[in-house]
Formats: sequence, C-alpha cells, structure tokens
Amino acid sequence: MEQHEHDAQTDLSPRTKVVALGRPERAPGASLNPPVTFTSTYVQDGPVNYARVDNPTWTPFEQAVGELEGGRALLFASGMAAVQAALSLVPTGGTVVAPAAAYNGVVVSLTEAQADGRVTVRWVDVTDSEAVAAALPGADLLWLESPSNPLLELADIAGLTAAAHEAGALVAVDNTFATPLLQRPLQDDVDVVVHSATKYLAGHSDVILGLTVTADTESGRELHTRLARQRTLSGAIAGPMEAWLALRGLRTLSLRLERACANAADL
Ligand SMILES: Cc1ncc(COP(=O)(O)O)c(C=O)c1O
Repeated sequence: MEQHEHDAQTDLSPRTKVVALGRPERAPGASLNPPVTFTSTYVQDGPVNYARVDNPTWTPFEQAVGELEGGRALLFASGMAAVQAALSLVPTGGTVVAPAAAYNGVVVSLTEAQADGRVTVRWVDVTDSEAVAAALPGADLLWLESPSNPLLELADIAGLTAAAHEAGALVAVDNTFATPLLQRPLQDDVDVVVHSATKYLAGHSDVILGLTVTADTESGRELHTRLARQRTLSGAIAGPMEAWLALRGLRTLSLRLERACANAADL
C-alpha cells in the first residue's frame, strides 16, 4: 500500500511528519524531545488541577497522531479503553451494526453488552456492503475495522459511512492496522477513529495504549468533549512514561510500515 504524499497545508510528507510532529518549540539550547511529567496534581488556578484530566506528556503524542489523522486525538490507557469510550457514545438500548469478524475484544464487549440488555448488536459481514447497508436503518453506530484483525477483511469505508449517516448513525473506524499513513478515515467523514497504539503507532511491543481521533468540525468537537469526559470519568488514562515511549516509537512508523508492506507483498 502507498503511504500518503505531501500535505498541501504544511508541505510536509507524512514520512517527515512522524519525525517532526510533537517536538517542543525550537529555541537555542532547547531539548529536541518533550519532557516526561510525573504528577498527580497541578498548582491551582491553571487550566487543569488534576492529572486524570490531562498530562503535558500526552499532548505531543496526541498532537502528532491528531495531525496525521487530520483531527483531534485523545490518548487512552489501551486500545480497548479507546474502544469502550467510542462505544459509550451509543445510548442505553441503542443499536450497533458491527463486523462479525472485528477484533475479538470488540466482539466480546458487544456480545456481553447485548447479553446485559444494554445494546442490540446486528452482526454483519463488512465485505458485503449491501448487507451492511440493509442493517443500518434505526442503528446508532456503525463499527468498522479495516483491515480487520486477524482476517484482514476490508470494508468500503467511504460508501458505508455515507449510508450510515443517511440512516442517522455515527461511524467509528478502528484504524489500527492501516495507520494514518495508509488510510485517513476522517477524510471519508467517519466520526470517530480508534487506535490500538500498542501496535504500529508505538511499534516496539513495550506499551499498551489507545487513541480516539475526531474531526475538527462542530460535531467532531462535540464528540471530542464527550470522549474526553468519558476518559476522565472512567479513569482509563495513559501513564506519562508510556505516552513518551509511544511518541518515540512513532518516529520510525513510516520505515516500519514500508518494511511490513514489503514483507507482506513478498509473502
Ligand atoms: C484492531 C484492534 N483494535 C483494538 C485492539 C485492542 O487494543 P489494546 O490491546 O491496546 O487494548 C487490538 C489489540 O490487538 C486490535 O488489534
């Protein structure tokens, strides 16, 4: 798969962006890397009093992934924490259309939520766009994962998003396997992008982290606020050291992805 080319706004290619984003302001003598802030509490009268709400070590990684995806990112303690935050957008008694072959943690979460009477799940084969479209009327959320883990199923993200919006449903896409260097679902009007940063983004098998990303539009900003509140109240927050390691790992995303794609092509 081809990585995206230059961004017209910044004239930087994503390959450069993964190296350059999230750096502190350049000044003589300044560090090239952000510091790690270990704190539970901040001195009163600033924007945030308590580190379950925000941590300055999250910010550069969130800014980097947000910019790569073309939206605003929120860092979570794991991919599953980000998944749960996105699923929390579904009202109690709501309906989710979801891939039968989604990541197992998502399938189990939705199966248990349905068994508890919290949601109705319509399981679909996402490679069959007509079947997905037929399941959409009355749904609150369409969940997609493309390519999926582990079957690498592909969904028509743009077409299904348009159909879901016509039916009044939000759309969440788990972009863990493609990464924003290969696919940017917000450009297809998707409402929430979800990542297990544990995989390609961090890339070194040394952290568990997740993200949501929403568009910088009025509805996207509203979703961002709801997801941030969910993060604060669930307490599913990243440790600052993990956030720092993930940003360091992101620096080599483009190179790692090139090799992964080349290896896959060989196989
Ligand atoms: C596609 C996908 N989404 C979500 C998750 C969950 O992420 P985490 O393990 O970081 O909680 C995984 C983990 O394997 C995954 O592969």
